[in-house]
Amino acid sequence: YSITVDPKSTGAKIDDTMYGVFFEDINRAADGGLYAELVQNRSFEYSTADNGSYTPLTSWATQGSGTAKVVNDGGRLNERNRNYLRVDLDGTDAGTGVVNSGYNTGIRVEKGKKYDFSVWARTDSADGTPLTVSLASSDGTTLAPSLELTARGDKWAKYTGTLTAVTDSTAGRLAVTAHGSGTARLDMISLFPRDTYKGRPNGLRKDLAEKIAALHPGFLRFPGGCLVNTGSMEGYDEASGWQRKRSYQWKDTIGPVEQRATNANFWGYNQSYGLGYYEYFQFAEDIGAMPLPVVPALVTGCGQNKATDDDALLKRHIQDTLDLIEFANGPVTSEWGKKRAEMGHPRPFHLTHIGVGNEENLPNEFFARFKQFRAAIEAKYPDITVVSNSGPDDSGSTFDTAWKLNREANVDMVDEHYYNSPQWFLQNNDRYDSYDRNGPKVFLGEYASWGNAFKNALAEAAYMTGLERNADVVKLASYAPLLANEDYVQWSPDMIWFNNHASWGSANYEVQKLFMNNVGDRVVPSTATTTPSVTAPISGAVGLSTWATTAAYDDVKVTGEDGTTLLSDDFSGDASKWTHTGGGSWSIQDGQYVQTDVAAENTMVSAGDTSWHDYDLQVKATKKSGK
Ligand code: AHR
Repeated sequence: YSITVDPKSTGAKIDDTMYGVFFEDINRAADGGLYAELVQNRSFEYSTADNGSYTPLTSWATQGSGTAKVVNDGGRLNERNRNYLRVDLDGTDAGTGVVNSGYNTGIRVEKGKKYDFSVWARTDSADGTPLTVSLASSDGTTLAPSLELTARGDKWAKYTGTLTAVTDSTAGRLAVTAHGSGTARLDMISLFPRDTYKGRPNGLRKDLAEKIAALHPGFLRFPGGCLVNTGSMEGYDEASGWQRKRSYQWKDTIGPVEQRATNANFWGYNQSYGLGYYEYFQFAEDIGAMPLPVVPALVTGCGQNKATDDDALLKRHIQDTLDLIEFANGPVTSEWGKKRAEMGHPRPFHLTHIGVGNEENLPNEFFARFKQFRAAIEAKYPDITVVSNSGPDDSGSTFDTAWKLNREANVDMVDEHYYNSPQWFLQNNDRYDSYDRNGPKVFLGEYASWGNAFKNALAEAAYMTGLERNADVVKLASYAPLLANEDYVQWSPDMIWFNNHASWGSANYEVQKLFMNNVGDRVVPSTATTTPSVTAPISGAVGLSTWATTAAYDDVKVTGEDGTTLLSDDFSGDASKWTHTGGGSWSIQDGQYVQTDVAAENTMVSAGDTSWHDYDLQVKATKKSGK
């Protein structure tokens, strides 16, 4: 077996931007992750609409003999930050207040480091309301000398101070206690480490930002993913205060943080938007990466699969996209360039690429809208590359239709996404060898093999040699997802893992780092006498068999031999990833996958290919009747 390399011949040019990162607020990647805020639910906006287990006091406890409760009334901080804490004081020395428990095991502080506290407050007490701010661990140990502030006047004002930690802790609790009598109102209770990435206010957690920076990514795709184009395409409604489950609309995420309306995140929690478009652009600049934002195209993806037919709304989103380009690149004299300057960045952010849409499963509906976005962008900004996509799969009829439409529309670049077994990655190294050299370029915006084990990283590395060999077609590629807080996981595997005090790169991270830090200039063509064959211990998809007139399934879980969850489904949502054979009909009923009218042996099979792994299949199945 030998490889022949001809150093004199040259192959495709490899762009410096070829390997990048894809940041999505999944697995608490933003709040409780990259965004350095230490207080969870700082503006009391958590709601059962975000997550069934939430209340406006999630991660808070009340204390004292007066009353502290979250209210939503005309006394609010502003129309976009509707809930606040009303504290009715009873004049006792102990005072009344709230205690926040942060993320994971609590608030993490390091001895000797400074922490910047802020709160918005108002009071009807003529003498003002003294506020004590203290930091202690869950066992009561003092973590920093307390801070004494006095809120004055019945108009909202921001009060600030600094706490200096006297000991290390990963279980800190931040308490704010009001004293005296009357009624005090509090909102946006915040604590930031002074030591953020590059020392930026409202900044990023240093260890996580540094791990991403160490990759030297060529680009930063953000903010999603399914996060972008799911939920309502309508905007925030100030008149009704309706603010839940909106698609990611960038204008919601800029300006003063206390005026950014929070939202229900597609991944089942609340997102503060404290990490918003300005911060994403700033981070991209700080790490030397090309910014690559993605905007919704009025067709939902990720199982929701709905096209919004509202011309006025479509026009508004198209205008928002033009405004986004102006926000990034426009002069300070322009409307949106001025807002960028006011936030602290008069220079442009040099946006060159923009993604429209993500994994739409309705290619025709998506294309009808995509083309309108593209026409408007090209008319005003002809130098911007507008990126389309090929839906959620690596092949199949939706994928084929999307690619056909992309080719016919002469699209510049198509975003492909796929998650597969390591075996698939080894067997498909030649995927792009046959792509049309004159067709649209490829942005491989999301890919990963199912696992964070060494073999997964190795399979991805092997696959990346195929991407690089085809660097004339594959112009950009990013592993996904980037970040996961180990205590709040919706998606695994992930590239970088963390909790409230530590972070660690996976084997897959090391592969990405290796490639990103060693981007060549050109491919040097090579030939091999033979290609090693790839065999896998197991092939085929996961299946469950039954032979009953009616059967109900719940809580299906497949675990790889390395303990990673390859597939799990409690059937509380969409079941489109399941197919079945043998006739009968199926539906989701009360959180179960129910099959009826089954005449013969009936198998349901996941579309996900879990081959390569030795797997354990744990099934809780209820046979309702029949054989
Ligand atoms: O990376 C996780 C998810 O995978 C993304 O949100 C979505 O685009 C894809 O389905």
